[in-house]
Parts: sequence; structure tokens; C-alpha cells
Amino acid sequence: MSDLVNIRHDHNVAVITIDNPPVNAMKYEVRVGLLDLVSRAIGDAAISAIVVACAGRTFVAGADITEFGKPPRQPTGIAVIEAMEASPKPVIAAMHGTPLGGGLELALGCHFRVAAPGTRLGLPEIKLGIIPGGGGTQRLPRLVGMDKAMAMILSGEPIPAREAFDAGLVDEIIEGDLAAGAIAFARRVVAEKRPLALTRNRDEKLATARDLAAFDAAAANYTKRARGQNAPAAAVEALRAALSLPVADALKRERELFLDLVAGDQSKAQRHIFFAEREAAKVPDVAGVKALDVKRAAVIGAGTMGGGIAMCFANAGIPVTVVDTGAEALARGLDVVTRNYRNTAARGGLAADEMEARIGRIAGTTDLAAIADADIVIEAVFEDMGVKQEVFGRLDRIVKPGAVIASNTSYLDIDAIARGTARPQAVVGMHFFSPANVMRLLEVVRGAATSPETLATAIAVGRTLGKVPAVVGVSHGFVGNRMLRLRSVEAERLLLEGALPQDVDGALTGFGFPMGPFAMADLAGLDVGWRMRKAQGLTAPIADQLCERGRYGQKTARGFYLYEPGARTPKPDPEVERLIVDTAAQRGIARGALGKDEIVERLLFPMINEGARILREGIARRPGDIDVIWVYGYGFPVHRGGPMHYADSVGLAYIRDRLTAFAHKTGDDRHHPSPLLEELAAAGRGFASLGE
Ligand code: CAA
Repeated sequence: MSDLVNIRHDHNVAVITIDNPPVNAMKYEVRVGLLDLVSRAIGDAAISAIVVACAGRTFVAGADITEFGKPPRQPTGIAVIEAMEASPKPVIAAMHGTPLGGGLELALGCHFRVAAPGTRLGLPEIKLGIIPGGGGTQRLPRLVGMDKAMAMILSGEPIPAREAFDAGLVDEIIEGDLAAGAIAFARRVVAEKRPLALTRNRDEKLATARDLAAFDAAAANYTKRARGQNAPAAAVEALRAALSLPVADALKRERELFLDLVAGDQSKAQRHIFFAEREAAKVPDVAGVKALDVKRAAVIGAGTMGGGIAMCFANAGIPVTVVDTGAEALARGLDVVTRNYRNTAARGGLAADEMEARIGRIAGTTDLAAIADADIVIEAVFEDMGVKQEVFGRLDRIVKPGAVIASNTSYLDIDAIARGTARPQAVVGMHFFSPANVMRLLEVVRGAATSPETLATAIAVGRTLGKVPAVVGVSHGFVGNRMLRLRSVEAERLLLEGALPQDVDGALTGFGFPMGPFAMADLAGLDVGWRMRKAQGLTAPIADQLCERGRYGQKTARGFYLYEPGARTPKPDPEVERLIVDTAAQRGIARGALGKDEIVERLLFPMINEGARILREGIARRPGDIDVIWVYGYGFPVHRGGPMHYADSVGLAYIRDRLTAFAHKTGDDRHHPSPLLEELAAAGRGFASLGE
């Protein structure tokens, strides 16, 4: 018998428990043990029902993702599910935690399902670039109906136990002891001689969904947002098969689609991001260091970032005080926050009482002394070293000893900011991305003096706020913005060489980004970058001229594009085209056609080159950290795995050769292949090999 699965008898009920921490993933040994014990229970005359449950924090949270891409080992998850389904004795899944993916499919193969109240159930495979491969696309719609199944499978989002019960996915919610409740449920099923209806044969909910035209229309709402990902279309095809094929054939088709996807590059990239996300916050000398318990937070600055960060705390249940020296700015900032909440509530995204609770957790003050008892203070004032140092000097005199003082700077030197205090060990960078209450990335910047406790607290707070923390070192623009800077320079260069804003943006959205650099700049406001460039003595040939003409982007209805009043759809503007053509002519640049692939390479390869420099300097510790930063902070398509993973998939020798050609063409020294890129390319290696 496998150690990971055990059995006990409660009179005539066999309770089979999977115990494979941390999340009871269905690895090979679990499948062997489970199949063995289910078969034994079926063959045991003393047993009349079987309960399948899990020890620890959750029911099976899926197949073991580390086994994907390796040769399959028998028995497969499907063989286990089919053995349970074929059992002449009732099999009951007793779920808690997060039954996900293969875990929920296991439960779908059981005759009955019961769950603890806090359980969240889902099929998140789409987030890994695959589809459910253990019958989920066939059994789930038969239990919850096609609309709900489509929403769950195409979004990958789990649903709470109560909703699952209402939809027919869960037969009973067990308050109190789950195992005892499941055993009692099993006894009732036996006593009442309830028929063992197999999920695969329950077609009543599909009968009302046989209108394929309606199905296709609903599915199109999901696939049109796929941005080049293959899994959504495959999920739709598998679901459609539930309506158009006999169940055995449909299950076979689901399996084929799954196997195809799991062997493909997109799923490989998405699995890479799954593990990289979990690695990015791991720092060797911080492992095991206890984070400070954060009960009260403060944010300095009531601007867009400050307000967004305050919302993050309020959403996570932590009271937060926003400080702004100007009473008017404070009132304006708090007003924006309240309006944001009200809009979300009006759209149905937040219950009224929850909205009030969140708003109630945010206090405002103009008096810095009011935050003396905060456990963490995040500064989000104007991006200027002098201003930041002055604020940190004042915070140093007010904030209680032991508290963490963080800066939300997006470029500036954390060490220089820390020097403005008598406690540099308490200072750390926490770089949120705009809008701070939405974007998942948090660059945690470790200064030279940042203590392990401070760093551990910044990471833990990031997790509590629902962010993906990635630890980076001090460097101008840290990791994300330092690489972005190269892309921005290149995007402007492409305009002068022959592209138009829509060509550049179109090439990147075609690659899978949600937005191109020019539409993005218009959204963020061109004046922001203009001010920053001026402060740093930098220029951007086209953007600077647009700003001089008062074209600041969406807020002035004109930027790189034109906007209808109140609308957000960019429209190409002949005036901008003239400006580009004239500027190129003044500089003696002959404009010519540029293909999509060339545009993508020109934008991404210099960034990858900079990523290699960042790795060599130790500013990022792993290539995967850079990938996480780009996927969660800048919309790099997850199915391409982030810039460094993508570079490996293209091949570093090719990238080196192209960069050499770009350096020749543009005369930009930053385009020369960096030493690390050269070394790896010459050795025929990829970035992924750096950790080996
Ligand atoms: N396989 C292998 N390892 C897994 C895993 C899985 N399915 N799920 C989680 N882990 C690992 C994580 O990598 C992490 O490892 P480290 O501690 O070494 O970093 C550890 O388990 C704990 O995970 P989290 O840090 O994510 O813990 P959490 O409590 O924050 O979240 C969770 C738990 C919600 C289950 C989350 O881990 C999760 O979403 N897991 C993935 C679930 C999933 O996608 N399942 C579907 C798999 S595909 C499938 O099942 C295909 C099929 O149909 C046949």
C-alpha cells in the first residue's frame, strides 16, 4: 500500500484518505494507492459505501503539474476515475479547501459529492494553457448546465461551495466534522438504496442546451479575448462535443485536445510562470525569518498610486491611514477612492455592506504624527529624490521603532532614500503598478541595508494584499522599468524609420500584449513620461513634440492617437503621421516599410538583452523573476512565458545575431549583445540553464 493513501473502516463505510502534502496533487504514487484501495473496498463484502477524502489543507488540488511533459505512467487519473465510476457501491467525495482540476474531476467521477462550507471548486486548467483532461468538460456541464460549465472552464475561476450546491455540483454542504458528515451521508445513500446515477449519463441539463448556434455565440464571447492562446478554443471544442457527440467519443476528443495542449509550447510557458511566480518571492537568507504582524498601515500621498495602495489594504481587511499635507489634495484623493468603490458596487462587483466596510477602513489626515502607530508606512509622493528624502527624514522621527518604511518609487535609488533616515534597515522598496488596486505585480526592492525582517514583512504584506511579490535589487528603474525604457526608445525609433503608432501597437497586440506602447502611453498620460525625461535630461523625438502641442493622451482626447470625447478607442491621426514624417525628414532618416516580425524583434530583443545584464549584475536573481515581473506588471502574454522564457524558445544565438544587426543599424551601443547573452548563445544554452 502507498504511504500517501490510507483506508479505515467505519463499520460498513470505507474512508479512503489521500495524504500528500501540501495540496494532495494526484501524483503517480497517489494514483496507484487510490486505485488499489478503491478496488479492495469494492471487493470487500463488509463494505457497502466508500468515502474519498483528503488530509491537510485541501482535497486534491489537481494533477501533479511537475509530471506534465514527462512520459505518462499507468494508472492515469482517468483509470482511477473510471474505476470509481464503475463501482457497484456508492462512492462519495468529501471535499474541503480547493478541489481543482484533476481533483474536481475525481469528485465528478464519484456518485455523490459533499463539501465543507469554505470549499472553493474549479477547473483552472485554462490558466496553465491546457483544458481539463480527466472528463471535466463532459461531466461538469452535465451537473451544472452548459452556461455555468463554460464560465467555469473558460475563466478558470473557482466557485464557492454554496454556489456549487445551488448549481447541482455538490449534493450536501456539511457543517462541522466533514468526515463524520460524509460517513452519515454515505449511510443514508445505502439505507435509502439511492440509485447510482453516473454523471456521464446524466443528460437532463444538456437537453435544454442543444442549440449549437446559441452555444457558439456564447463561446465567442470567451474566445475573442484569447489573444493567441490555444486553450480557450480547445475548451470550447471539447464542451461543444458534449452537445454533439456520444459521451464516450466526446471524452476521447477531450483527451486528444488535452494531450495536444500539454505537449505544446504555450502550456510549457504557462507552467513555467506558475512555478516562477512561487519562486520569485523566495530569498535564501530570508527563508524562515518571521515577518512583522501588520495590523495598521499608512500611506503617504493621496495621489493615484497612494489611493490605489490604500484600497489594497482596505480590501485585505487592514485599516489604513492616508496622509497628505494638502487638505484639498487629501479630500480629492479620498473622493476618488470612494468613487472607485461605488462604481465597483454599482457594477455588481461588491456588496453594499462590504463596500462600506472597505471605505470605513480608510482614514485621511494631514497630520503626519497621526501615523505613529502604523506597522508599515508606504510612501507614494512625487517621484523626486529631494522630496522623498525629506519625507523619509520626517517619517524617521515619527514612525514607531520596528515598523517598516517602504517607498513606492518606480525608479529611484532605495539606498539613497534610506540614507535620509537613522534606520536604513527598516527601509525597503515596494513598487506597485498602476492601477495599484488591480495590477498583481509588486516589485520588492531590497536595499543594501534592508534587514531580512523588513524584506520578509514586505513580501508577506504583498501576499496578504493578493499581489505577486518579486524581489529585486537596486538599479535605476529596478527590473521592469529599466527594461521598459529600452522598449520605449525603440518604439519611437521605429516611428522615424517607417512605422506608424498603429503598426507598432498592432505588432505587439498581435504578439499577445493587451496593448501596444503608444496606446499605453496615451492611457497613462504622455506628460508623466515627459516630466520624467526632462528631469533626467532624456528626450523622445515624437512624444516630446506631442506634449509641446498639449497632446497628453486620453485625458486631452489627443496623443499618439485621437479619441472621441469620453471614448477610449484610439483612432489614427493624420496630424501625428505628418509630425512623424516631418521629424524623420529633418533628421535625414529615410522611412521604409517595416514588417510585424521585425517590429516585434526590435521591441523585445533589446529588452531581453537588458534582462541578461540585469541577471549578470544580480539585480534579478533568476530569469523566471524577470518573466513574472513582465507577465504580471506589463501584460507580457503568459502563454509566451515572459521575455526570458520566450528568448529561450526563440534561441539565443538568433537573438544575438539580430541584436548585432540592430546595433549596426541604429548605432545604439545598448544593442550590442551583453556578455551573458554572448556566453550562453556561444555555448548553445538558454537562460533556463542558469539555475542548473
Ligand atoms: N502540482 C504540483 N505542485 C503543486 C500543485 C500541483 N497541481 N499545486 C500547488 N503545487 C505546489 C506549489 O508549487 C507550491 O510549491 P512550493 O511550496 O514548493 O512553492 C505548493 O504546492 C503550495 O502551493 P501554493 O503556494 O500555490 O499554495 P496556496 O495555498 O497559495 O494555493 C492552490 C493552493 C490554490 C491549490 C494553488 O497551489 C493552485 O492553484 N494550484 C494549482 C491548481 C491547478 O491548477 N490544478 C489543476 C492542475 S492541471 C490538472 O489537474 C489537469 C487535468 O485535468 C488532468
